[in-house]
Amino acid sequence: MSAASLSDLVLRYGGNLPRYTSYPTAASFTEAVGPAQAEQWLRALPADEPVSLYFHVPFCDELCRFCGCNTSVMRHEDGRMAYGDLLREELRRIVALVGSGRRVRHLQFGGGTPSTLPAASLRQVLRSVRQFFRIDPDAELAMELDPRHVPSGYPELLGALGFTRISIGVQDLEEKVQEACGRHQSFAQTEACLTAVRNAGVSGVNVDLIYGLPYQTEESVAATARKIASLRPSRLAVFGYAHVPWKQKRQRLIPEEALPLPVERLRQRARMEEVLCEEGYLPIGLDHYALPDDPLVKAAQAGTLRRNFQGYTTDSSAVLLGMGASAISMLPGGYTQNITAVAPYARALADQPGLPVARGVARTADDTLRGRLIEELMCTMQLDLEAGPAKGHDFSAEYAALKPLVQDGFVVLDGGSVRVTPEGRPFLRHVAAVFDTRRNALPVADSGATPQPRFATAL
Ligand SMILES: C[S@@+](CC[C@H](N)C(=O)[O-])C[C@H]1O[C@@H](n2cnc3c(N)ncnc32)[C@H](O)[C@@H]1O
Repeated sequence: MSAASLSDLVLRYGGNLPRYTSYPTAASFTEAVGPAQAEQWLRALPADEPVSLYFHVPFCDELCRFCGCNTSVMRHEDGRMAYGDLLREELRRIVALVGSGRRVRHLQFGGGTPSTLPAASLRQVLRSVRQFFRIDPDAELAMELDPRHVPSGYPELLGALGFTRISIGVQDLEEKVQEACGRHQSFAQTEACLTAVRNAGVSGVNVDLIYGLPYQTEESVAATARKIASLRPSRLAVFGYAHVPWKQKRQRLIPEEALPLPVERLRQRARMEEVLCEEGYLPIGLDHYALPDDPLVKAAQAGTLRRNFQGYTTDSSAVLLGMGASAISMLPGGYTQNITAVAPYARALADQPGLPVARGVARTADDTLRGRLIEELMCTMQLDLEAGPAKGHDFSAEYAALKPLVQDGFVVLDGGSVRVTPEGRPFLRHVAAVFDTRRNALPVADSGATPQPRFATAL
């Protein structure tokens, strides 16, 4: 594609869009949904409904400047242990509402860096989970690790506790990029981390890479993708750097003048995809790549791939119970999110008998329908508006709104079917946004009035 047509695309498709890991998205969460509503939704869960569990650990050993996650540095072992106790207390309160003995097929520890949870604390949390739930023998147990700070003995602990998958951050291997991001991580550290977890019997490995970081070029991101592919992680997630310094103060340290412009971001993304495909990876949805024998590819082929707050997943559970500061739960009635900061989250558990829920959103029937269509699009890159859940509903306005994407070659419309082309993959969120009626209804402060960055995050 020529530089002129790329710039034209950037002009028309720039701006901010949600990642559609849920619908309604987190931008629709308000305080109208609080602990009482969450408790009612949890009590109403059918007794035989399986659940997935997510534990958020908002601590890291050091902070990276680019990071948009809810995390801070907690050095004291006592503080880390105390946080593990809070997770168990929240789990106990949830079990009091949903009952014990439910099946669990997926369990994930995310962050932050969840391996900041001391070994004794992780063992206690897993013991509680096994006491209250029935974990399927072939369940996926996953944890995010930071290769620069893997506590001694932790890989072996994960293996012994039955973990099946780890996800690590790499982002970029270039010294200059790492310096600008405040994240120094050698290839040897990454390799040693993967070797250690694999030797401990944890075979599933995901690596996160980012394009659009300061000083990155097409050549540099291609070199990083090639070198990381040589380690044969079963999956890779390739994210576009989201620069939101008005939300995440630490990003003010990122040298903005060194950030690649949207046109360059598009090229970097395309180059990484090219390299990963040459290395035998298959593209999945918006931003994932997996080896042909990875369960994610099998799920994509079988039409069972899902998308939730953890991104693309094989997890088919309709219920996700999130524990920890800022954790989000997905329930049949809607979404709830816990208090974001650790201190008030801890106080809520210490001072009140209820759940530390701060906000959320109730799902209407229309939300449920649109959520299914958006998830279908994000997972399969296609949609049939005359069959399945869409049948009998009027989506003529959405169909018409897709026409510009057709003209750009990103979407093919055929009768009632919508198909996103391989060229349209980077614009998958724009296709999904056509079905997002809540986005236009958001208060101005949450959408239009947010300072529009020079660096469009939707590309
Ligand atoms: C919780 S971190 C990964 C685990 C671990 N803490 C580490 O640093 O290796 C989750 C991932 O989110 C992605 N991420 C964080 N901030 C981002 C941003 N501003 N834009 C795009 N991706 C981001 C990174 O790829 C990161 O690896």
